[in-house]
Amino acid sequence: MAWTLIAKESDIPVQECKYFVVDDVEITIYHLVDGFYATSDTCTHEDCSLSQDGEIDHQEIICKCHGGAFNIKTGKATRMPCISPIETFPIRCHDGQIEVDIS
Ligand code: FES
Repeated sequence: MAWTLIAKESDIPVQECKYFVVDDVEITIYHLVDGFYATSDTCTHEDCSLSQDGEIDHQEIICKCHGGAFNIKTGKATRMPCISPIETFPIRCHDGQIEVDIS
């Protein structure tokens, strides 16, 4: 595991997400009611940014470009036209800091 310090927990309000780049990998960090989650930022349908063009609905990120969606915790595509999953990454919080492992 290669943990990278990415942000403070307080930087991302509950039910919001933010875009980050870690080692040239574009990711989105989500703050859900039960914790933090990390996925790749690019929608697998036509490459829209999930952090820029998306909206969180419970445990789903809905891509506003064409209405597709993914489960934030598993990365699985949950609504058409999305079929392929997004990538998920291990994430942990320590002393109010968020760390992610994209290795
Ligand atoms: S680019 Fe995301 S649903 Fe089309």
